[in-house]
Amino acid sequence: MVVFLVFLAFCLSAVDGQFPRVCSTEAAFHTKTCCPLWKDKSPCGSLSGRGRCRNWSTLHGNKIPLNSDDRLDWPRYYYENTCECHGNYSGFDCGDCKFGHHGEKCDRKKVVLRRELRELTFLEQKRLFSYLALAKTTKSRDFVVLSTGDRFHRETYRFVDASLYDVFVWMHYYSMKAILVNGTFNPNKNFAHQGPAFPGWHRLNLLFLERQIQLMTGDEDFAIPYYDWRGEKNCSICTDELLGTNDAQGVLNPYSHFSFWKAICSGFNFPDEYCPLADYEQKMERVHRKPGATPYAPNLPSFQDVENILKLSSFDTPPYNDTSLLSFRNALEGFLSPDGVTLKRSLHNLVHIYLGGTMSQIPISSNDPIFIFHHSFVDKIFDAWVARYDASPSSYPDNSETGHGPDDCATPFFPCFKNRDLIHRAMTFGYQYSSFPVK
Ligand SMILES: *[C@@H]1O[C@H](CO)[C@@H](O)[C@H](O)[C@H]1NC(C)=O
Ligand SMILES: *[C@@H]1O[C@H](CO)[C@@H](O)[C@H](O)[C@H]1NC(C)=O
Ligand SMILES: *[C@@H]1O[C@H](CO)[C@@H](O)[C@H](O)[C@H]1NC(C)=O
Ligand SMILES: *[C@@H]1O[C@H](CO)[C@@H](O)[C@H](O)[C@H]1NC(C)=O
Ligand SMILES: *[C@@H]1O[C@H](CO)[C@@H](O)[C@H](O)[C@H]1NC(C)=O
Repeated sequence: MVVFLVFLAFCLSAVDGQFPRVCSTEAAFHTKTCCPLWKDKSPCGSLSGRGRCRNWSTLHGNKIPLNSDDRLDWPRYYYENTCECHGNYSGFDCGDCKFGHHGEKCDRKKVVLRRELRELTFLEQKRLFSYLALAKTTKSRDFVVLSTGDRFHRETYRFVDASLYDVFVWMHYYSMKAILVNGTFNPNKNFAHQGPAFPGWHRLNLLFLERQIQLMTGDEDFAIPYYDWRGEKNCSICTDELLGTNDAQGVLNPYSHFSFWKAICSGFNFPDEYCPLADYEQKMERVHRKPGATPYAPNLPSFQDVENILKLSSFDTPPYNDTSLLSFRNALEGFLSPDGVTLKRSLHNLVHIYLGGTMSQIPISSNDPIFIFHHSFVDKIFDAWVARYDASPSSYPDNSETGHGPDDCATPFFPCFKNRDLIHRAMTFGYQYSSFPVK
């Protein structure tokens, strides 16, 4: 029993995104080792009992063929040795705590409340926008992002500085690049979408940002709000006090919070490169938005749409891609209509397209901060589904879609977080949702 509990503790530990600055060195890549020294000068804080440096390749087996995608069997292409953290410890060096835990010894559990954006007081909204401004302008201390001229040529790989917010954006972009399988890019396959990993992957991505903002500001109560778009006639949070109004071209009002935000990884959506101008701000597009302007996405999803997808009791169904029928995941993601049987743009996808501009360019969509409020609501629906069906990691289907297997590590998070271990109530990860009646 003790062994079992310890194992569970590993499954639920928190994660960080790639690439840890201290592990983006030639030496680290050469030795395929990312086991940084913690404060006690031991790898993964092993002397203090925080974790240990471990070779994972024996567990994964020999799966990576030559000339293949660098993200396959994450993070093996880069590192075979990474930290395994004990108990409540987590992070790439076991220097952090698993989600929902705080303190030097990570023994203080805390559950934060994610509320509707309009449920916040004026002061709380001000604080939120100043935190986001800080996250957008503060260079990440711990992480760098990968920029390449050509994915096939290792010598063009550069690891460059980015702000905390931009590291978050890059993670979505990176995991969404077409997967290279046997020398061919498959645009229908990526590590975060069009498969069962979708809800859990986005949950981790938001948790990453939420945690980083908590650490940056020292505000342990910080929680990402959500935008309940059900039944909205237009984007009612697109006001200058909140997300900003826009003109007919999609340009945000210069007197709103995000009008000067630049979109990292914008402009060059070629399959054979990763974010080539990640450190060249002059070449980046501005964040822009055009809610309601797309003729084939004239409205936001309804209350009934959300009720209907919650009736789908299977988490996902074969063939585990964007053609899955009677699949909660595919209906939530929005390739499947809420009726469960018609393949039609809906829910999550519909909101992206409805909002237009940066949000409708899915790989770079998280550059628009409305992404985090949208995905927080998508995650709230996921949490409601988990509660309704008392779902658990065993609800995650066996499947062989690249990167979406139950035991595959979510890309590019690290240390490993298995896809199936993300099916839990939000409370498990230290947050919960308010029930706020917008209307
Ligand atoms: C990890 O273990 C495998 C199998 O024993 C071995 O081939 C590999 O060299 C090890 N990796 C490192 C970085 O030590
Ligand atoms: C982990 O955190 C819990 C609180 O959630 C605490 O009760 C427990 O003692 C901690 N475990 C360790 C090993 O510190
Ligand atoms: C890749 O090619 C190898 C050898 O030709 C083949 O065995 C394998 O099934 C292919 N994999 C995929 C995913 O197509
Ligand atoms: C959205 O619609 C409401 C009601 O028609 C209106 O009061 C509001 O100004 C509109 N907001 C925007 C941003 O168009
Ligand atoms: C989804 O899977 C089916 C069955 O394997 C396949 O025929 C179809 O091409 C896949 N769709 C996409 C978009 O990859």
